[in-house]
Amino acid sequence: ELLGVSVCTDKLFKVLVIGDLGVGKTSIILRYVNKLFDDTYKASIGVDFALKTIEWNTRTVVRLQFWDIAGQERIKNMSRAYYKGAMGAVVVFDVTHSPTLEAASEWKRDLDSKVCLDSGHPIPAVLLANKCDMKGWDGGFVSSLDRFCKDNGFLGWFETSAKDNINIDEASAFLVKQMMLCD
Ligand code: GTP
Repeated sequence: ELLGVSVCTDKLFKVLVIGDLGVGKTSIILRYVNKLFDDTYKASIGVDFALKTIEWNTRTVVRLQFWDIAGQERIKNMSRAYYKGAMGAVVVFDVTHSPTLEAASEWKRDLDSKVCLDSGHPIPAVLLANKCDMKGWDGGFVSSLDRFCKDNGFLGWFETSAKDNINIDEASAFLVKQMMLCD
């Protein structure tokens, strides 16, 4: 408070959304930002952007700038320029397709080799186990995700569904909290 006028802070965070082809990155962003879901698959090319503004508390507005990076970019080796200045990362895998979980650890390693905080620490990253609405998904390997997160330097994980809107807001709030701590 300054001369009786409350000071409002405005924070902008660049957040990378990465993970293999078709795991649901674009759908998660679309759900979170536009409250929509579209079940037709269009592969992303390069990078898409989306902005979400949240009133974090009465004095803080947080703007999240999502960089939705096409899964196929990994094959071409992710450009360092995409990662520059990122303050947080969301790494997504598809619970119905276990190779995408192994890929998540590669994405995380690639991320940490290309960007870090000014302090030298890795940027906060959260793991999303997406498509948990799918039939046949029994949650079998979820118990091992705590270990996976420890081993790969994720701060936490969430079971999500862009389709049924499960845990997307919660995962985002968790990441924002972590980014605020690092800021
Ligand atoms: P790339 O841009 O190619 O890297 O793919 P992506 O990770 O952005 O995946 P995208 O969001 O395009 O989703 C791929 C397909 O999975 C689409 O057909 C989506 O409708 C579907 N999908 C995404 N999220 C979910 C989900 O939570 N549940 C179900 N059942 N399907 C989903």
